[in-house]
Amino acid sequence: MNMIRSKLISGILLMAIVLLPASLTAQKSATIKIYPERAKDTISKEIYGHFAEHLGTCIYGGLWVGENSGIPNTLGYRTDVLNALKELKIPVLRWPGGCFADEYHWMDGIGPKNKRPKMVNNNWGGTIEDNSFGTHEFLNLCEMLGCEPYISGNVGSGTVEELAKWVEYMTSDGDSPMANLRRRNGRDKAWKVRYLGIGNESWGCGGDMRPEYYADLYRRYAVYCRNYDDNRLYKVASGASDYDYNWTDVLMKNIGRRMHGISLHYYTVKGWNGNKGAATVFDKDDYYRTIGKCLEIENVIKRHCEIMDRYDRDKRTGLLVDEWGTWWDEEPGTVRGHLYQQNSLRDAFVASLTLDVFHKYASRVRMANIAQIVNVLQSMILTNDKGGMVLTPTYHVFNMYKVHQNALCLPLTLICDEMNVPDNRTIPILSATASRDKNGAIHLSLSNIDADNAQTVSVEIAGLKTMKIANGTILTSTDLADHNTFDKPQTVTPANFTGAVTNNGILQVKIPAKSIVTLEIK
Ligand code: AHR
Repeated sequence: MNMIRSKLISGILLMAIVLLPASLTAQKSATIKIYPERAKDTISKEIYGHFAEHLGTCIYGGLWVGENSGIPNTLGYRTDVLNALKELKIPVLRWPGGCFADEYHWMDGIGPKNKRPKMVNNNWGGTIEDNSFGTHEFLNLCEMLGCEPYISGNVGSGTVEELAKWVEYMTSDGDSPMANLRRRNGRDKAWKVRYLGIGNESWGCGGDMRPEYYADLYRRYAVYCRNYDDNRLYKVASGASDYDYNWTDVLMKNIGRRMHGISLHYYTVKGWNGNKGAATVFDKDDYYRTIGKCLEIENVIKRHCEIMDRYDRDKRTGLLVDEWGTWWDEEPGTVRGHLYQQNSLRDAFVASLTLDVFHKYASRVRMANIAQIVNVLQSMILTNDKGGMVLTPTYHVFNMYKVHQNALCLPLTLICDEMNVPDNRTIPILSATASRDKNGAIHLSLSNIDADNAQTVSVEIAGLKTMKIANGTILTSTDLADHNTFDKPQTVTPANFTGAVTNNGILQVKIPAKSIVTLEIK
Protein backbone atom coordinates (compact mmCIF):
# COMPACT_ATOMS: atom_id res chain seq x y z
CA MET A 1 0.00 0.00 0.00
CA ASN A 2 1.48 3.37 -0.94
CA MET A 3 1.17 6.08 1.67
CA ILE A 4 0.43 9.59 0.48
CA ARG A 5 1.34 12.79 2.30
CA SER A 6 2.02 16.38 1.32
CA LYS A 7 5.40 17.82 0.56
CA LEU A 8 6.86 21.10 -0.59
CA ILE A 9 9.32 20.46 -3.35
CA SER A 10 11.60 23.18 -4.50
CA GLY A 11 12.62 23.76 -8.07
CA ILE A 12 15.37 25.99 -6.77
CA LEU A 13 18.67 24.45 -5.85
CA LEU A 14 19.63 24.51 -2.20
CA MET A 15 16.27 25.76 -0.98
CA ALA A 16 15.06 23.94 2.13
CA ILE A 17 12.46 21.21 1.75
CA VAL A 18 9.61 21.37 4.24
CA LEU A 19 7.44 18.36 4.94
CA LEU A 20 3.85 19.05 5.78
CA PRO A 21 2.04 16.75 8.24
CA ALA A 22 1.47 13.29 6.87
CA SER A 23 -2.03 12.24 5.96
CA LEU A 24 -3.33 8.92 4.78
CA THR A 25 -5.76 10.32 2.24
CA ALA A 26 -4.85 11.57 -1.19
CA GLN A 27 -4.96 15.33 -1.34
CA LYS A 28 -5.44 15.40 -5.11
CA SER A 29 -4.45 19.01 -5.33
CA ALA A 30 -1.15 20.78 -5.68
CA THR A 31 0.24 24.30 -5.73
CA ILE A 32 3.01 25.72 -7.85
CA LYS A 33 4.63 29.12 -7.65
CA ILE A 34 6.99 30.18 -10.42
CA TYR A 35 9.64 32.89 -9.86
CA PRO A 36 10.81 34.33 -13.20
CA GLU A 37 12.84 37.09 -11.54
CA ARG A 38 15.09 34.49 -9.88
CA ALA A 39 15.94 32.74 -13.15
CA LYS A 40 19.60 32.51 -14.11
CA ASP A 41 20.29 29.23 -15.91
CA THR A 42 19.62 28.39 -19.53
CA ILE A 43 18.51 24.85 -20.33
CA SER A 44 21.14 23.85 -22.89
CA LYS A 45 19.44 22.43 -25.89
CA GLU A 46 22.03 19.63 -25.79
CA ILE A 47 20.11 18.16 -22.81
CA TYR A 48 17.78 16.92 -25.57
CA GLY A 49 20.61 14.96 -27.19
CA HIS A 50 20.53 11.44 -28.59
CA PHE A 51 22.77 8.43 -28.94
CA ALA A 52 23.22 6.06 -31.89
CA GLU A 53 25.36 2.96 -31.42
CA HIS A 54 26.27 0.15 -33.79
CA LEU A 55 23.98 -2.13 -31.82
CA GLY A 56 21.12 -4.25 -33.08
CA THR A 57 19.10 -2.34 -35.65
CA CYS A 58 19.85 1.17 -34.45
CA ILE A 59 22.13 2.03 -37.37
CA TYR A 60 21.46 -0.74 -39.91
CA GLY A 61 17.72 -0.94 -40.55
CA GLY A 62 16.88 1.95 -38.22
CA LEU A 63 18.75 4.98 -39.52
CA TRP A 64 20.46 3.48 -42.54
CA VAL A 65 19.15 1.08 -45.18
CA GLY A 66 21.49 1.97 -48.05
CA GLU A 67 20.59 3.55 -51.35
CA ASN A 68 19.54 0.28 -52.99
CA SER A 69 16.95 -0.61 -50.35
CA GLY A 70 13.29 -1.09 -51.23
CA ILE A 71 12.48 1.06 -48.19
CA PRO A 72 12.11 4.71 -49.22
CA ASN A 73 15.39 6.43 -48.42
CA THR A 74 17.27 9.65 -48.93
CA LEU A 75 20.86 8.85 -49.94
CA GLY A 76 20.60 5.61 -47.91
CA TYR A 77 18.96 7.08 -44.76
CA ARG A 78 15.35 6.01 -44.07
CA THR A 79 13.25 8.97 -45.20
CA ASP A 80 10.47 8.38 -42.65
CA VAL A 81 12.96 8.22 -39.76
CA LEU A 82 14.82 11.26 -41.04
CA ASN A 83 11.62 13.31 -41.17
CA ALA A 84 10.46 12.17 -37.73
CA LEU A 85 13.84 13.09 -36.24
CA LYS A 86 13.89 16.51 -37.94
CA GLU A 87 10.61 17.27 -36.19
CA LEU A 88 12.29 16.72 -32.79
CA LYS A 89 14.96 19.39 -33.47
CA ILE A 90 17.74 17.09 -32.34
CA PRO A 91 20.63 19.20 -31.03
CA VAL A 92 23.39 16.58 -30.81
CA LEU A 93 23.93 12.93 -31.74
CA ARG A 94 26.52 10.67 -30.07
CA TRP A 95 28.18 7.90 -32.14
CA PRO A 96 29.48 5.15 -32.71
CA GLY A 97 29.03 3.82 -29.13
CA GLY A 98 28.82 2.91 -26.27
CA CYS A 99 30.86 -0.18 -25.80
CA PHE A 100 31.15 -0.50 -29.58
CA ALA A 101 33.26 2.68 -29.72
CA ASP A 102 36.18 1.11 -27.88
CA GLU A 103 36.50 -1.65 -30.49
CA TYR A 104 35.82 0.59 -33.48
CA HIS A 105 38.63 1.45 -35.86
CA TRP A 106 37.46 4.38 -37.90
CA MET A 107 39.67 3.69 -40.91
CA ASP A 108 37.61 0.52 -41.53
CA GLY A 109 34.61 2.75 -42.21
CA ILE A 110 35.93 5.08 -44.93
CA GLY A 111 36.56 4.71 -48.67
CA PRO A 112 34.69 2.53 -51.18
CA LYS A 113 32.07 0.46 -49.37
CA ASN A 114 33.00 -2.79 -51.14
CA LYS A 115 36.56 -2.47 -49.87
CA ARG A 116 35.67 -1.85 -46.25
CA PRO A 117 36.61 -4.77 -44.00
CA LYS A 118 34.04 -6.59 -41.93
CA MET A 119 34.32 -7.04 -38.16
CA VAL A 120 32.52 -8.94 -35.42
CA ASN A 121 30.50 -6.77 -33.07
CA ASN A 122 31.73 -8.51 -29.93
CA ASN A 123 29.68 -6.47 -27.52
CA TRP A 124 26.34 -6.84 -29.20
CA GLY A 125 25.38 -10.35 -30.19
CA GLY A 126 28.45 -11.15 -32.34
CA THR A 127 26.71 -9.59 -35.33
CA ILE A 128 28.83 -9.04 -38.42
CA GLU A 129 29.46 -5.35 -38.99
CA ASP A 130 30.24 -4.48 -42.60
CA ASN A 131 31.30 -0.90 -41.89
CA SER A 132 29.06 0.49 -44.62
CA PHE A 133 27.99 3.20 -42.17
CA GLY A 134 31.13 5.09 -41.22
CA THR A 135 32.46 8.59 -40.62
CA HIS A 136 31.07 10.18 -43.82
CA GLU A 137 27.67 8.56 -43.38
CA PHE A 138 27.44 9.73 -39.77
CA LEU A 139 28.67 13.28 -40.24
CA ASN A 140 26.49 13.77 -43.32
CA LEU A 141 23.50 12.55 -41.29
CA CYS A 142 24.25 15.17 -38.64
CA GLU A 143 24.34 17.84 -41.33
CA MET A 144 20.97 16.66 -42.65
CA LEU A 145 19.47 16.71 -39.14
CA GLY A 146 21.10 20.05 -38.36
CA CYS A 147 22.67 18.66 -35.19
CA GLU A 148 26.14 18.64 -33.63
CA PRO A 149 28.06 15.39 -33.94
CA TYR A 150 29.47 13.90 -30.75
CA ILE A 151 32.24 11.44 -31.57
CA SER A 152 33.06 8.79 -29.02
CA GLY A 153 36.75 7.89 -29.51
CA ASN A 154 38.38 4.50 -29.05
CA VAL A 155 40.67 4.55 -26.00
CA GLY A 156 40.14 0.95 -24.85
CA SER A 157 41.64 -0.87 -27.85
CA GLY A 158 42.82 2.02 -30.03
CA THR A 159 45.86 4.26 -30.00
CA VAL A 160 46.52 7.93 -29.45
CA GLU A 161 47.70 8.16 -33.06
CA GLU A 162 44.47 6.62 -34.35
CA LEU A 163 42.22 9.07 -32.51
CA ALA A 164 44.46 12.05 -33.32
CA LYS A 165 44.29 11.15 -37.02
CA TRP A 166 40.50 10.76 -36.87
CA VAL A 167 40.19 14.30 -35.54
CA GLU A 168 42.48 15.53 -38.31
CA TYR A 169 40.49 13.58 -40.94
CA MET A 170 37.20 15.10 -39.85
CA THR A 171 38.18 18.67 -39.03
CA SER A 172 41.35 19.76 -40.83
CA ASP A 173 41.04 21.96 -43.92
CA GLY A 174 44.78 22.16 -44.46
CA ASP A 175 47.11 20.36 -46.83
CA SER A 176 47.54 17.59 -44.28
CA PRO A 177 47.70 13.80 -44.88
CA MET A 178 44.35 13.02 -43.28
CA ALA A 179 42.56 16.01 -44.83
CA ASN A 180 43.82 14.87 -48.24
CA LEU A 181 42.65 11.32 -47.57
CA ARG A 182 39.21 12.70 -46.77
CA ARG A 183 39.23 14.68 -50.01
CA ARG A 184 40.12 11.52 -51.96
CA ASN A 185 37.10 9.90 -50.32
CA GLY A 186 34.81 12.56 -51.72
CA ARG A 187 34.52 15.21 -49.02
CA ASP A 188 36.40 18.40 -49.75
CA LYS A 189 35.44 20.64 -46.86
CA ALA A 190 36.12 19.61 -43.28
CA TRP A 191 33.14 18.97 -41.06
CA LYS A 192 32.66 20.84 -37.82
CA VAL A 193 33.01 18.46 -34.87
CA ARG A 194 32.71 20.00 -31.45
CA TYR A 195 32.15 17.13 -29.03
CA LEU A 196 34.83 14.47 -28.63
CA GLY A 197 34.50 11.71 -26.06
CA ILE A 198 37.87 10.30 -24.92
CA GLY A 199 36.69 6.74 -24.37
CA ASN A 200 33.43 5.30 -23.06
CA GLU A 201 32.83 3.50 -19.77
CA SER A 202 36.59 3.18 -19.35
CA TRP A 203 35.92 1.54 -15.97
CA GLY A 204 34.15 -1.33 -17.78
CA CYS A 205 33.70 -2.29 -21.44
CA GLY A 206 36.01 0.58 -22.42
CA GLY A 207 39.15 -0.91 -20.90
CA ASP A 208 38.39 -1.98 -17.31
CA MET A 209 40.67 0.77 -15.97
CA ARG A 210 41.18 2.32 -12.58
CA PRO A 211 40.36 6.05 -12.43
CA GLU A 212 43.97 7.09 -11.74
CA TYR A 213 45.21 5.21 -14.80
CA TYR A 214 42.39 6.52 -16.99
CA ALA A 215 43.04 10.11 -15.86
CA ASP A 216 46.64 9.88 -17.07
CA LEU A 217 45.56 8.25 -20.29
CA TYR A 218 42.98 10.99 -20.86
CA ARG A 219 45.67 13.64 -20.45
CA ARG A 220 47.83 11.94 -23.05
CA TYR A 221 45.01 11.56 -25.60
CA ALA A 222 43.83 15.12 -25.06
CA VAL A 223 47.24 16.57 -25.99
CA TYR A 224 47.17 15.08 -29.47
CA CYS A 225 43.51 15.68 -30.33
CA ARG A 226 44.08 19.09 -31.87
CA ASN A 227 41.96 22.07 -32.80
CA TYR A 228 42.32 22.40 -36.56
CA ASP A 229 41.57 25.75 -38.20
CA ASP A 230 38.58 27.27 -36.43
CA ASN A 231 37.22 23.94 -35.14
CA ARG A 232 37.22 23.95 -31.33
CA LEU A 233 36.93 20.59 -29.59
CA TYR A 234 34.91 20.16 -26.41
CA LYS A 235 36.69 17.19 -24.87
CA VAL A 236 34.65 14.87 -22.69
CA ALA A 237 36.24 12.49 -20.19
CA SER A 238 34.66 9.08 -19.75
CA GLY A 239 32.86 9.53 -16.45
CA ALA A 240 31.25 7.50 -13.74
CA SER A 241 28.48 4.97 -13.71
CA ASP A 242 25.63 5.80 -11.33
CA TYR A 243 26.95 5.84 -7.76
CA ASP A 244 30.71 5.74 -8.46
CA TYR A 245 31.53 9.08 -6.82
CA ASN A 246 35.20 8.18 -6.44
CA TRP A 247 35.58 8.06 -10.23
CA THR A 248 34.36 11.66 -10.54
CA ASP A 249 36.55 12.76 -7.65
CA VAL A 250 39.74 11.27 -9.10
CA LEU A 251 39.08 12.71 -12.56
CA MET A 252 38.27 16.16 -11.24
CA LYS A 253 41.46 16.11 -9.19
CA ASN A 254 43.78 14.72 -11.85
CA ILE A 255 42.35 16.01 -15.12
CA GLY A 256 40.79 19.27 -13.98
CA ARG A 257 40.54 21.93 -16.68
CA ARG A 258 42.06 19.66 -19.32
CA MET A 259 38.54 18.33 -19.82
CA HIS A 260 35.58 20.47 -20.83
CA GLY A 261 33.06 17.90 -19.71
CA ILE A 262 32.81 14.68 -17.77
CA SER A 263 30.15 12.10 -18.50
CA LEU A 264 27.77 10.17 -16.28
CA HIS A 265 25.72 7.08 -17.16
CA TYR A 266 22.49 6.31 -15.33
CA TYR A 267 19.96 3.74 -16.47
CA THR A 268 16.56 3.18 -14.92
CA VAL A 269 16.94 -0.54 -14.21
CA LYS A 270 20.17 -1.76 -15.66
CA GLY A 271 21.81 -5.13 -16.05
CA TRP A 272 23.42 -7.26 -18.67
CA ASN A 273 21.70 -10.42 -17.50
CA GLY A 274 18.90 -11.32 -15.16
CA ASN A 275 15.34 -10.23 -15.10
CA LYS A 276 14.87 -6.52 -15.60
CA GLY A 277 11.19 -6.97 -16.31
CA ALA A 278 9.19 -6.77 -19.50
CA ALA A 279 8.68 -3.38 -21.13
CA THR A 280 4.93 -3.79 -21.45
CA VAL A 281 3.90 -6.35 -18.82
CA PHE A 282 4.02 -4.89 -15.30
CA ASP A 283 1.78 -4.01 -12.38
CA LYS A 284 1.32 -0.80 -10.44
CA ASP A 285 4.04 -1.68 -7.93
CA ASP A 286 6.50 -2.22 -10.79
CA TYR A 287 5.46 1.16 -12.19
CA TYR A 288 6.07 3.00 -8.92
CA ARG A 289 9.34 1.10 -8.38
CA THR A 290 10.49 2.33 -11.79
CA ILE A 291 9.52 5.91 -11.00
CA GLY A 292 11.41 5.68 -7.69
CA LYS A 293 14.57 4.46 -9.43
CA CYS A 294 14.16 7.06 -12.16
CA LEU A 295 13.82 9.95 -9.72
CA GLU A 296 16.88 8.78 -7.80
CA ILE A 297 18.90 10.27 -10.64
CA GLU A 298 18.43 13.60 -8.87
CA ASN A 299 20.42 12.46 -5.82
CA VAL A 300 23.06 10.92 -8.03
CA ILE A 301 23.47 14.12 -10.07
CA LYS A 302 23.48 16.21 -6.92
CA ARG A 303 26.32 14.20 -5.38
CA HIS A 304 28.42 14.25 -8.55
CA CYS A 305 27.80 18.01 -8.76
CA GLU A 306 28.91 18.51 -5.16
CA ILE A 307 32.20 16.79 -5.96
CA MET A 308 32.63 18.87 -9.11
CA ASP A 309 31.87 22.06 -7.15
CA ARG A 310 34.74 21.30 -4.80
CA TYR A 311 37.23 21.49 -7.67
CA ASP A 312 35.40 23.84 -10.00
CA ARG A 313 33.36 26.51 -8.27
CA ASP A 314 32.80 28.45 -11.51
CA LYS A 315 31.15 25.45 -13.12
CA ARG A 316 33.44 25.51 -16.14
CA THR A 317 33.35 21.75 -16.53
CA GLY A 318 30.04 20.37 -17.73
CA LEU A 319 28.37 17.21 -16.48
CA LEU A 320 27.15 15.28 -19.53
CA VAL A 321 24.69 12.48 -18.83
CA ASP A 322 25.54 10.91 -22.16
CA GLU A 323 23.63 7.66 -21.53
CA TRP A 324 20.32 7.43 -19.70
CA GLY A 325 16.91 5.83 -20.04
CA THR A 326 15.05 2.60 -19.36
CA TRP A 327 16.57 -0.83 -19.86
CA TRP A 328 14.04 -3.68 -19.98
CA ASP A 329 14.20 -7.31 -21.02
CA GLU A 330 14.59 -7.71 -24.76
CA GLU A 331 11.31 -8.33 -26.60
CA PRO A 332 10.57 -12.05 -27.00
CA GLY A 333 11.54 -13.33 -30.42
CA THR A 334 14.19 -10.68 -31.07
CA VAL A 335 17.95 -11.25 -31.42
CA ARG A 336 19.73 -11.61 -28.06
CA GLY A 337 22.16 -8.80 -27.45
CA HIS A 338 20.31 -6.37 -29.70
CA LEU A 339 18.49 -4.63 -26.81
CA TYR A 340 15.27 -4.15 -28.75
CA GLN A 341 12.49 -3.16 -26.34
CA GLN A 342 8.99 -1.72 -26.51
CA ASN A 343 8.15 1.62 -24.97
CA SER A 344 5.02 2.34 -22.96
CA LEU A 345 3.42 5.26 -21.13
CA ARG A 346 5.65 4.26 -18.19
CA ASP A 347 8.71 5.06 -20.35
CA ALA A 348 7.16 8.42 -21.22
CA PHE A 349 7.16 9.22 -17.49
CA VAL A 350 10.80 8.23 -17.15
CA ALA A 351 11.54 10.68 -19.98
CA SER A 352 9.53 13.62 -18.61
CA LEU A 353 10.71 13.19 -15.01
CA THR A 354 14.35 12.83 -16.00
CA LEU A 355 14.20 15.90 -18.23
CA ASP A 356 12.65 17.83 -15.31
CA VAL A 357 15.67 16.89 -13.18
CA PHE A 358 18.13 17.90 -15.92
CA HIS A 359 16.43 21.32 -16.15
CA LYS A 360 16.81 21.78 -12.41
CA TYR A 361 20.56 21.13 -12.62
CA ALA A 362 21.03 23.13 -15.83
CA SER A 363 23.90 25.11 -14.33
CA ARG A 364 26.04 21.95 -14.44
CA VAL A 365 24.24 19.46 -16.70
CA ARG A 366 25.16 20.71 -20.17
CA MET A 367 24.24 17.69 -22.25
CA ALA A 368 22.30 14.44 -21.99
CA ASN A 369 21.87 11.66 -24.55
CA ILE A 370 19.02 9.25 -24.15
CA ALA A 371 19.89 5.66 -25.06
CA GLN A 372 19.16 5.16 -27.91
CA ILE A 373 17.65 6.91 -30.90
CA VAL A 374 16.10 4.02 -32.88
CA ASN A 375 15.27 0.37 -32.05
CA VAL A 376 17.54 0.12 -28.98
CA LEU A 377 16.56 0.57 -25.29
CA GLN A 378 14.35 3.63 -24.67
CA SER A 379 14.13 4.66 -28.28
CA MET A 380 12.30 7.47 -30.02
CA ILE A 381 11.38 5.30 -32.96
CA LEU A 382 10.82 1.62 -33.73
CA THR A 383 11.16 0.33 -37.27
CA ASN A 384 10.73 -3.00 -39.02
CA ASP A 385 12.21 -4.37 -42.24
CA LYS A 386 8.89 -4.03 -44.07
CA GLY A 387 9.09 -0.25 -44.02
CA GLY A 388 6.99 0.16 -40.85
CA MET A 389 7.76 2.93 -38.38
CA VAL A 390 6.32 3.67 -34.94
CA LEU A 391 6.82 6.80 -32.84
CA THR A 392 7.12 5.80 -29.19
CA PRO A 393 5.54 7.57 -26.18
CA THR A 394 9.09 8.76 -25.37
CA TYR A 395 9.26 10.42 -28.80
CA HIS A 396 6.09 12.31 -27.96
CA VAL A 397 7.54 13.58 -24.67
CA PHE A 398 10.64 14.85 -26.49
CA ASN A 399 8.40 16.56 -29.01
CA MET A 400 6.25 18.20 -26.31
CA TYR A 401 9.34 19.25 -24.34
CA LYS A 402 11.37 20.68 -27.24
CA VAL A 403 9.98 24.13 -26.34
CA HIS A 404 12.34 24.08 -23.33
CA GLN A 405 15.46 23.83 -25.49
CA ASN A 406 17.73 26.84 -24.87
CA ALA A 407 15.02 28.52 -22.76
CA LEU A 408 15.61 30.17 -19.41
CA CYS A 409 14.83 27.75 -16.57
CA LEU A 410 12.30 29.31 -14.20
CA PRO A 411 12.71 28.32 -10.55
CA LEU A 412 9.53 27.09 -8.89
CA THR A 413 8.18 25.66 -5.68
CA LEU A 414 5.72 22.81 -5.72
CA ILE A 415 3.51 21.58 -2.90
CA CYS A 416 2.04 18.18 -3.64
CA ASP A 417 1.39 14.77 -2.14
CA GLU A 418 4.15 12.28 -1.85
CA MET A 419 4.03 8.53 -1.79
CA ASN A 420 6.07 5.67 -0.35
CA VAL A 421 6.97 3.28 -3.15
CA PRO A 422 8.82 -0.07 -3.34
CA ASP A 423 12.56 -0.23 -2.51
CA ASN A 424 12.06 2.14 0.44
CA ARG A 425 11.78 5.22 -1.67
CA THR A 426 9.44 8.20 -1.35
CA ILE A 427 8.37 10.09 -4.44
CA PRO A 428 6.37 13.26 -5.11
CA ILE A 429 3.19 12.52 -6.99
CA LEU A 430 3.62 15.48 -9.33
CA SER A 431 6.61 16.85 -11.19
CA ALA A 432 6.83 20.29 -12.77
CA THR A 433 9.27 22.33 -14.81
CA ALA A 434 8.97 25.77 -16.36
CA SER A 435 11.00 27.88 -18.76
CA ARG A 436 10.76 31.12 -20.71
CA ASP A 437 11.78 31.13 -24.37
CA LYS A 438 13.45 33.92 -26.30
CA ASN A 439 10.06 35.28 -27.40
CA GLY A 440 8.88 35.62 -23.81
CA ALA A 441 6.47 32.68 -23.84
CA ILE A 442 6.44 30.57 -20.67
CA HIS A 443 6.18 26.79 -20.99
CA LEU A 444 5.08 24.69 -18.07
CA SER A 445 5.31 20.90 -18.14
CA LEU A 446 3.49 18.83 -15.53
CA SER A 447 3.66 15.08 -14.96
CA ASN A 448 0.94 13.58 -12.80
CA ILE A 449 2.66 10.37 -11.70
CA ASP A 450 -0.42 9.18 -9.76
CA ALA A 451 -1.80 6.15 -11.55
CA ASP A 452 -5.32 6.64 -10.17
CA ASN A 453 -6.05 10.20 -9.16
CA ALA A 454 -6.42 13.41 -11.09
CA GLN A 455 -4.77 16.49 -9.55
CA THR A 456 -6.01 20.03 -9.48
CA VAL A 457 -2.94 22.20 -9.72
CA SER A 458 -2.99 25.92 -8.92
CA VAL A 459 -0.19 27.82 -10.60
CA GLU A 460 0.92 31.34 -9.80
CA ILE A 461 3.64 33.20 -11.66
CA ALA A 462 5.26 35.90 -9.54
CA GLY A 463 4.94 39.30 -11.20
CA LEU A 464 2.37 38.14 -13.74
CA LYS A 465 -1.10 39.56 -13.10
CA THR A 466 -2.77 38.19 -16.20
CA MET A 467 -2.08 35.01 -18.14
CA LYS A 468 -3.38 33.51 -21.34
CA ILE A 469 -3.06 29.85 -22.26
CA ALA A 470 -1.86 29.84 -25.84
CA ASN A 471 -1.49 26.10 -26.21
CA GLY A 472 -1.89 22.85 -24.31
CA THR A 473 -0.88 19.26 -25.12
CA ILE A 474 -1.50 16.10 -23.11
CA LEU A 475 0.00 12.62 -23.33
CA THR A 476 -1.90 9.87 -21.55
CA SER A 477 -3.61 6.56 -22.20
CA THR A 478 -6.01 4.09 -20.61
CA ASP A 479 -3.30 1.87 -19.21
CA LEU A 480 0.25 2.60 -18.08
CA ALA A 481 1.46 -0.33 -20.18
CA ASP A 482 -0.16 1.03 -23.34
CA HIS A 483 2.28 1.37 -26.22
CA ASN A 484 2.38 1.87 -29.96
CA THR A 485 2.78 -1.02 -32.39
CA PHE A 486 3.11 -1.31 -36.16
CA ASP A 487 -0.58 -2.35 -36.26
CA LYS A 488 -1.75 0.29 -33.80
CA PRO A 489 0.74 3.16 -33.97
CA GLN A 490 -1.55 5.78 -32.38
CA THR A 491 -2.48 4.15 -29.04
CA VAL A 492 -0.36 6.60 -27.04
CA THR A 493 -0.38 9.87 -28.87
CA PRO A 494 -0.54 13.54 -27.82
CA ALA A 495 -3.86 15.36 -27.86
CA ASN A 496 -5.03 18.91 -27.39
CA PHE A 497 -5.34 19.71 -23.68
CA THR A 498 -8.28 21.84 -22.54
CA GLY A 499 -8.16 21.25 -18.78
CA ALA A 500 -6.53 24.57 -17.87
CA VAL A 501 -8.28 27.84 -17.07
CA THR A 502 -7.02 31.19 -15.78
CA ASN A 503 -8.77 33.20 -13.13
CA ASN A 504 -7.50 36.40 -11.49
CA GLY A 505 -3.88 35.68 -12.31
CA ILE A 506 -4.08 32.05 -11.10
CA LEU A 507 -3.86 29.15 -13.49
CA GLN A 508 -5.95 26.11 -12.55
CA VAL A 509 -4.95 22.88 -14.23
CA LYS A 510 -6.97 19.72 -13.88
CA ILE A 511 -4.49 17.07 -14.88
CA PRO A 512 -5.85 13.53 -15.25
CA ALA A 513 -4.21 10.53 -13.58
CA LYS A 514 -1.03 9.21 -15.29
CA SER A 515 -0.69 12.07 -17.73
CA ILE A 516 1.92 14.52 -18.94
CA VAL A 517 0.92 18.02 -19.98
CA THR A 518 2.79 20.93 -21.54
CA LEU A 519 1.20 24.39 -21.55
CA GLU A 520 2.22 27.58 -23.29
CA ILE A 521 1.43 30.64 -21.23
CA LYS A 522 1.59 34.20 -22.53
O1 AHR B 1 23.54 1.72 -24.37
C1 AHR B 1 23.96 0.41 -24.29
C2 AHR B 1 25.31 0.27 -23.55
O2 AHR B 1 25.16 0.67 -22.23
C3 AHR B 1 26.42 1.11 -24.06
O3 AHR B 1 27.07 0.55 -25.15
C4 AHR B 1 27.34 1.18 -22.88
O4 AHR B 1 28.12 2.36 -22.87
C5 AHR B 1 26.39 1.08 -21.70
O5 AHR B 1 26.82 0.16 -20.77
